[in-house]
Amino acid sequence: MQAKYDTDFRVVAVIGAGAMGRGIAQLAAQAGCQVRLFDQQAGAVDAARQAIGAQWDRMQEKGKLDAAEVGALKGRLQGAASLEALAGSDLAIEAIVERLDVKRQLFASLEPILGPDAVLASNTSSLSITALGAGVQRPERLAGLHFFNPVPLMKVVEVIPGLRTEAAVCERLAKLVKAMGHTPVRAQDTPGFIVNHAGRAYNTEALRIVGEGIADFATVDRILRDQVGFRLGPFELMDLTALDVSQPVMESIYHQYYEEPRYRPSVIAAQRLAGGVLGRKTGAGFYRYQDNQAQVPPEPAAPQVAEMPPVWVSPRAARRAELLQLLKDLGAQIETGASPSMHALTLVAPLGFDVTTVAVVDRHDPARTVGIDLLVEDAATRRRVLATNPATRSDMRDAAHALFARDGKPVSVIRDSGGFVTQRVVASIVNLATDICQQGICTPADLETAVTLGLGYPLGPLAMGDRWGGASILEVLFNMQTVYGDTRYRPSPWLRRRAAIGLSLRHEEA
Ligand SMILES: NC(=O)c1ccc[n+]([C@@H]2O[C@H](COP(=O)([O-])OP(=O)(O)OC[C@H]3O[C@@H](n4cnc5c(N)ncnc54)[C@H](O)[C@@H]3O)[C@@H](O)[C@H]2O)c1
Repeated sequence: MQAKYDTDFRVVAVIGAGAMGRGIAQLAAQAGCQVRLFDQQAGAVDAARQAIGAQWDRMQEKGKLDAAEVGALKGRLQGAASLEALAGSDLAIEAIVERLDVKRQLFASLEPILGPDAVLASNTSSLSITALGAGVQRPERLAGLHFFNPVPLMKVVEVIPGLRTEAAVCERLAKLVKAMGHTPVRAQDTPGFIVNHAGRAYNTEALRIVGEGIADFATVDRILRDQVGFRLGPFELMDLTALDVSQPVMESIYHQYYEEPRYRPSVIAAQRLAGGVLGRKTGAGFYRYQDNQAQVPPEPAAPQVAEMPPVWVSPRAARRAELLQLLKDLGAQIETGASPSMHALTLVAPLGFDVTTVAVVDRHDPARTVGIDLLVEDAATRRRVLATNPATRSDMRDAAHALFARDGKPVSVIRDSGGFVTQRVVASIVNLATDICQQGICTPADLETAVTLGLGYPLGPLAMGDRWGGASILEVLFNMQTVYGDTRYRPSPWLRRRAAIGLSLRHEEA
């Protein structure tokens, strides 16, 4: 295996041979480095070397490596019996337990063993690199090097300078990441760095939607998969990650940002964590699992409606022309008067407002008013989402459901929500991401790379905002803030200014 990029780190020490250390050691050997792996637990290094060796054997079976390459790789991966045996390493990457005191102690022990120019790197997910650097003699040579799990498959690595880290150290680490076949992104030393920070909106907003009684877990997952193209819904994702991993991250980032409402965690997840209902690995999370298969409750079928009422569409509906064409295609009887007749189903399509607010402000009869989420154009979605309000009559709800299901596209009917499901989740993701740019945590380009590779979103959050329009996202947030009175939804200045001027959310100031 020929590394495409060279690294000037010849000998790399990896401390901690657990899930992360194994992957890091594997990639360092594949990048051409001599690797020395150390773990305080007896047997851990041997187990790790065996597991990594088995990976290389599998790569050989698949034809990705030949026998000579596998032999060379195995020869480059050595165990170390003590920290002293790491002397002579150019770089030490720690992937030990996530505790500031223990990591500081390790770096303090390593400093006199390694040469004065050796680089120290931490794989921490949540600790401050600056705080780690404060515990060593030469903080200028210590940086964060944050890999994701599973290391060989997650192709992005955050390179994080502490306040006193030399720029050249990060450049060398970024080059090593490329030699490992991964993509480096540069992040400022802030809670959650890029990926764990940008990822807060998806889960926390989904939990708020469920907490508000708008829809159940499975419905929220279906909507976000089918309307936006997320591979996993937020609840499937939390079940996969397990709440004992994700909930502490949610809490930690929230508290580290001094209770910033944008990161506010949910009591739903906290209670499940306390009860040991962690996810797939415990057999029960938001879903129950049988033979590792999620038991998903079936979707309610579209109701049979004998007599379809005429339909009237609010002049203020989002994508009104598209909606009228869709109704025509579905064979609806469309009313064209200035106001709906006594029998008409009244359709509204708000951005950020709930159906109740629109019905009251525009003086529609709430009993006959139903909302549809048209942030994303109908042609681009695999599902339609309708919302009732507390006064909506069941015959009107059922008529709307049956009408929009006529062409076979699935329909979800949810309770009233400022921003339905898709609008509020997408707007929250875009808002957090633009604020990461506003805070200068990373460049817009690195943000997009980090989120698409690290979180697997179908689009980077800034591209997502551009796709559905910065102005629409801004409108969703302003109106959600009005509906909920929660500063969680206040728009980031980055979004506000670019949307107001009509610039791409990826635009960087000259
Ligand atoms: N697991 C993840 O998804 C993930 C992702 C990114 C970053 N991280 C971070 O990577 C680090 C390691 O995580 P992990 O999941 O690999 O943990 P792990 O528990 O699988 O492995 C940690 C290993 O470190 C060893 N160890 C602990 N203290 C030590 C010490 N003082 N000296 C030497 N060895 C020591 C343990 O024996 C164990 O083998 C943590 O800082 C974690 O926050 C984890």
